[in-house]
Amino acid sequence: MCGIVGYIGQQDAKKILINGLKKLEYRGYDSAGIGLLNQSGVHVFREKGRIADLEAIVDWNITASVGIGHTRWATHGEPNRENAHPHQSASGRLTLVHNGVIDNYEKLKEQYLAGVQLKSDTDTEVIVQLVEVFIGEGLEVAEAFRKTLSLLHGSYAIAMIDAETPDTLFVGKNKSPLLVGLGEGFNVVASDAMAMLQVTDQFVELMDEEIVLVKKDAITIETLDGKMVKRDPFTAELDASDIEKGTYPHYMLKEIDEQPAVMRKLVTAYRDDNGDIKLDSNIREAVKAADRLYIIAAGTSYHAGLVGKQLLERIAGVPTEVHIASEFAYNMPLISKNPLFIFISQSGETADSRGVLVHVKKLGFKTLTITNVPGSTLSREADYTLLLHAGPEIAVASTKAYTAQIAVLAILSVATAEAKGLQPKIDLMKELSIAANAMQTLVDQKEMIEDIARKYLSTSRNAFFIGRAVDYYVALEAALKLKEISYIQAEGFAGGELKHGTIALIEKGTPVIAIATQFHVNGNIRSNLKEVTARGAHACIVSMEGLNEAADQIVLPEVHDLLTPLVSVVPLQLLAYYAALHRGNDVDKPRNLAKSVTVE
Ligand code: F6R
Repeated sequence: MCGIVGYIGQQDAKKILINGLKKLEYRGYDSAGIGLLNQSGVHVFREKGRIADLEAIVDWNITASVGIGHTRWATHGEPNRENAHPHQSASGRLTLVHNGVIDNYEKLKEQYLAGVQLKSDTDTEVIVQLVEVFIGEGLEVAEAFRKTLSLLHGSYAIAMIDAETPDTLFVGKNKSPLLVGLGEGFNVVASDAMAMLQVTDQFVELMDEEIVLVKKDAITIETLDGKMVKRDPFTAELDASDIEKGTYPHYMLKEIDEQPAVMRKLVTAYRDDNGDIKLDSNIREAVKAADRLYIIAAGTSYHAGLVGKQLLERIAGVPTEVHIASEFAYNMPLISKNPLFIFISQSGETADSRGVLVHVKKLGFKTLTITNVPGSTLSREADYTLLLHAGPEIAVASTKAYTAQIAVLAILSVATAEAKGLQPKIDLMKELSIAANAMQTLVDQKEMIEDIARKYLSTSRNAFFIGRAVDYYVALEAALKLKEISYIQAEGFAGGELKHGTIALIEKGTPVIAIATQFHVNGNIRSNLKEVTARGAHACIVSMEGLNEAADQIVLPEVHDLLTPLVSVVPLQLLAYYAALHRGNDVDKPRNLAKSVTVE
């Protein structure tokens, strides 16, 4: 969480930094700030709220060709102006932005900063004050920076400017993502390439415990213990238009609409010229060799993992467990003899998942990451990667990444079945194309779904989603989507489980939305819905064509019964979107959340 940017060159840094921060707002948006360095010194502007609030207080007459910026998701200290970054050292000489969490900041404060009056509640201010203390003890700024970073325990991506060294940005990283972007006569830093695509597509990746001295025409990378590092730049393959909203009012709506195209892109990416599945043979062999798969993920990606378990077990016959990353890390189950760990993460940066990855790698187990972001931490650190090809997902609420994750898990399942010499009972590429068409039909029914949102969710305090078998997993995802953007208390339940307690919450008018896509439980879920209707619930049913009854509110075009989550989730994503919209919420940036969750 939090995004950082930096610029050193000849142009005016202000606009570049602010534009960069706008692209990083998905990483946190409770306060923001920039620090600019010019001949008259350092100028810091910070504000609570969004980048737009920061823009309103920046003095646009100041020009500077060196600067850093930050957009924050609060961890230490409330989201107010005092805690917003950049933070400055006591004398004002040093100005610093930080993404991450310093675990030992209290200890460092006690040990080194007894005589320093801190102005904020943040762990970040401790870093910048420490650098100044070490300069006071006689170290050069670069050495003081290095010494400080080597004392830090935790995660950080840091950029610092020094009023007395105006030709250098001091940059360092451990666990939090950071890239250096290269230009003609300027260089930049950013948490994500997206932020600096406006000025360059050439980026150098940084590894943990590296520091970089960034000048306008050169960069020097060293490890914390002083070894020089040479690394070639890569070209960011993002198209600037991928990250624009275009004519859409919100990214979320754009991303929901993109789902059929993502399915088709996946079919192309994972199909060879003969129409067969194209997938790295090492990955097929790794899954085939495993006696058990452990899927590790968080939030929406965890929900995709639940669907994936069913696909891997039913198509490839490999026993699969799905675990919430933050739980697995501290409550590890018994592990089989020859496991394969599969990490599902849209961002590839989720700290909870990375914690597990680091741990299981130490235990010597093989790892595969399924992610949307090539070069992300989870991708780099796992043995193998499968990409989602969903294009940048900017809205905080994940939509197209979820369906892409399910499709990739289906592809992996069929490839594994083939590697095991099994005859998969699904022509997957054909079925994914059918699912893409069904998704298209659904995204074209926005008016009808908006009506349902208005009717069921415009005033309700809570809502329930119920399903059985794979529909239960989709119910969990539908509830998460609704709660995170509409702030309606929403829960997903296995249809049969309601009567074991939760049915006590049903009162007159409580919305209960049932999903019925599975033949073998169609009767059961409809009975569950009758039970709640009898107690006053406002019932709505999303059913699959062929299982539908006359009064069903949403009927999904028929798709293969293993792929129903790809289509049943679409109207439920739209329902969440319209519920949030009608309540006047910021759909793309819901309160308290951030897109890339890089703290544990
Ligand atoms: C919800 C959502 C989150 C993420 C979760 C994991 O819409 O986006 O629940 O799914 O934070 O993030 P990734 O997939 O990036 O590891």
